[in-house]
Amino acid sequence: MGIKSDLGSLNWQIELGADEAISDQPQDRLSQAQTSQAEMVAKKSVVYSQASQENPQIESPLFGSPQKASLRTAAENHTVDTVFSAKNLEELRGSLEAFEGCALKKTATNLVFGDGNPDSDLMFVGEAPGADEDRQGKPFVGVSGRLLDTMLSYIGRDRTKFYITNHIYWRPPGNRTPAAAEVAACLPFIRRHIELINPRFLVFVGGAAAKALLERTEGINKLRGQWFAYKTPGLAESIPATAIFHPAYLLRQPAHKRLAWRDLLMLKQRLVS
Ligand code: URA
Repeated sequence: MGIKSDLGSLNWQIELGADEAISDQPQDRLSQAQTSQAEMVAKKSVVYSQASQENPQIESPLFGSPQKASLRTAAENHTVDTVFSAKNLEELRGSLEAFEGCALKKTATNLVFGDGNPDSDLMFVGEAPGADEDRQGKPFVGVSGRLLDTMLSYIGRDRTKFYITNHIYWRPPGNRTPAAAEVAACLPFIRRHIELINPRFLVFVGGAAAKALLERTEGINKLRGQWFAYKTPGLAESIPATAIFHPAYLLRQPAHKRLAWRDLLMLKQRLVS
């Protein structure tokens, strides 16, 4: 009876997404959340007032217009200095490791930064790490990652010939959809990540990454199969960017593999041109 109800309670927690033991002792996350919220509000006023004094006209895809300043998250403001000054991937990783402005970091096991060849002409940006990625600290190493690797092998690419990351750097508990504030917190980092890799072609894996980085509202069915110009202030020239179906979606909807294959052929054609 006791064991049965304990198992029931464990199953219930797993269904809620609490499927990773992150420490031996329980922690009072409610009181922690209140403290860090207060800290973030304090940081927001200090860092943003510095940034706006230096450049009152600051307007970029990262931080929006001055009118939108009040909508910026504390996390975005906190990163003004550290992200823009990251001169290489190591520094960017370091600023992510030091960053406390994304709640997902607290429940994740590892930062999932990137994998593959940073000198490649081809960069993929996916959604968010899952359980396997969280455990290994590498993007796309689970079932959907293996499908993506297989798909890319058909156009002659393996991880020595592309670079891959996500637009969310920590696993959302139970693989839930990241909250808007979590996406906004990671956005300056992924934008700088793309600037540092500066690939010839950029491919968003799944609708969430495409929508966040291209600032579009359409779904993946509309965004796939076409090219966009991806541009940020740190890039000398825009990067041709496209979007493909997420492999996890293809595992659920295998009939769409036909369209995915068409998208890969379109990409291959650009790569050899
Ligand atoms: N799905 C993603 O979008 N990224 C990963 O790293 C793994 C699964």
